[in-house]
Amino acid sequence: MNNLIRTIKTRTIGLITIAIMVTFTAIACGGGGTTQSSTEVGIPPEKVVDYIHTVLLADRTAYTKHVVNRLKKLEGKDKPDGVINAEATETWQDTDGVPLPAQMFRLGSEVALENTTEFTYNLISTWYINDNHNPKSEFEKTAMEEVNKTGEPYKDYQEIAGQTYYSALYPDKAVAEACVSCHNTHPIHLERYPDKKFELGEVMGGIIINLPVDKT
Ligand code: HEC
Repeated sequence: MNNLIRTIKTRTIGLITIAIMVTFTAIACGGGGTTQSSTEVGIPPEKVVDYIHTVLLADRTAYTKHVVNRLKKLEGKDKPDGVINAEATETWQDTDGVPLPAQMFRLGSEVALENTTEFTYNLISTWYINDNHNPKSEFEKTAMEEVNKTGEPYKDYQEIAGQTYYSALYPDKAVAEACVSCHNTHPIHLERYPDKKFELGEVMGGIIINLPVDKT
């Protein structure tokens, strides 16, 4: 009798061990499978928008630092540290210049829109120069007001035409004197917002990212 119980115990432990090994193998191999996407393994939407934001900001900063900063002129003004005889200017298409970082950002978002309907992103601001950057939806208006007030990202679900989105607005702050001086002296800014003078460190607008999500 004792022997029988011992045999059963050994077999049970053996079976459990095999079950655990199978489970581990399944988990280990699952990641490489073609049917599993990142959302299926459960990256929360608030993380996904953070990742997208990191890449967008990194690209704009790299463009400013390693392209625009090497040019001899920025919107008509000489840059003493520039080494390339070219200008970054809003009217780059009519001159021999290259786009400003904010324009480069918008051009990128337009190309992305041609290639995917998965998510959208854009710059918006209460004090927009370009009409495309006007906070339009109720969500954008509320989010922009909050971000202006707190300087912190604003994230929430919203519904557009029956589709649920997880949306996030990240503050875009005046990190350099050039941000402030260029915007404060821009003819459209002066005409639309004569009393608004940006200061260093202030929120100038925000990067909005809209991620479609399934209703649960
Ligand atoms: C040389 C001028 C210049 C500089 C420097 C500059 N901007 Fe802009 N910015 C513009 C112009 C012009 C636009 C509109 C671009 C477009 O047509 O898409 C713009 C657009 C924006 C927008 C979108 C809202 C809008 O006004 O249309 C934000 C937000 C913004 N800039 C923030 C910044 C920040 C932050 C910095 C510094 C890191 C900065 N800008 C530096 C000229 C400038």
